Amino acid sequence: MFERKIEVDQEQDFEGLEAARQYAAGAQKSTMRYRAFFERLETLDKVGRYLDVGAGPGTVAGMIAQKYPRVELIALELSPDMAAVGQELLKNKGLENRVKFVVGDATDTGLLPSLGKFDLIYSTYSLHHWENPRQVIDNLMTALADDGVLFIHDLRRVWWLYWAPSRSGFFRSIRGAYVKEEIETMLADFSPGCYEVKNEIPFLLSVIIKKSTL
Ligand SMILES: C[S@@+](CC[C@H](N)C(=O)[O-])C[C@H]1O[C@@H](n2cnc3c(N)ncnc32)[C@H](O)[C@@H]1O
Repeated sequence: MFERKIEVDQEQDFEGLEAARQYAAGAQKSTMRYRAFFERLETLDKVGRYLDVGAGPGTVAGMIAQKYPRVELIALELSPDMAAVGQELLKNKGLENRVKFVVGDATDTGLLPSLGKFDLIYSTYSLHHWENPRQVIDNLMTALADDGVLFIHDLRRVWWLYWAPSRSGFFRSIRGAYVKEEIETMLADFSPGCYEVKNEIPFLLSVIIKKSTL
């Protein structure tokens, strides 16, 4: 009775410029939500070309652009409204030449090869929105350079938030998020030992796949 629950209006949170602006304002205000991601990112020690998958309004891409001046970034985002708001925000910060937004679906097998190879592909809080995560991961693995790393950071379904009688976006996302075992099943086709799925405190999950060990 703790099954993954995808609520129909989850995607509507990102539709329209107003919703995208609201999401962006929340993300800019609570950068704490990216702390665990950045801690882990530092340990990966990657330079070169980065791809942000499901970049939303580019909050993380902007932070990376500021922190790592030599990294080249592409932000892939499904919603044109999110991408438009992201471009606006990055321009306000003078980072418009550092992050290139691409509007598209990470499930699209034709799209990723057109973007070239990446040293690091990362994604924050987007995995539980992907309709076909296995296909997305396949596409992303193909887009990695030979020694590239795929790092997926997301919410985790935890029972103590799952049962909260709230319909706010956060709780709906928690109910739609994965648990570690589901991700491991999803990655079963990969050879053992080449990926790490880790529960992060308090309700987060990280997946790291290193291409060179495949
Ligand atoms: C909760 S937002 C996270 C945004 C941003 N990564 C962050 O951490 O603030 C999830 C984003 O993933 C995008 N998304 C969902 N499925 C996608 C797909 N198949 N391809 C590209 N983007 C996708 C949504 O449009 C949405 O902007």
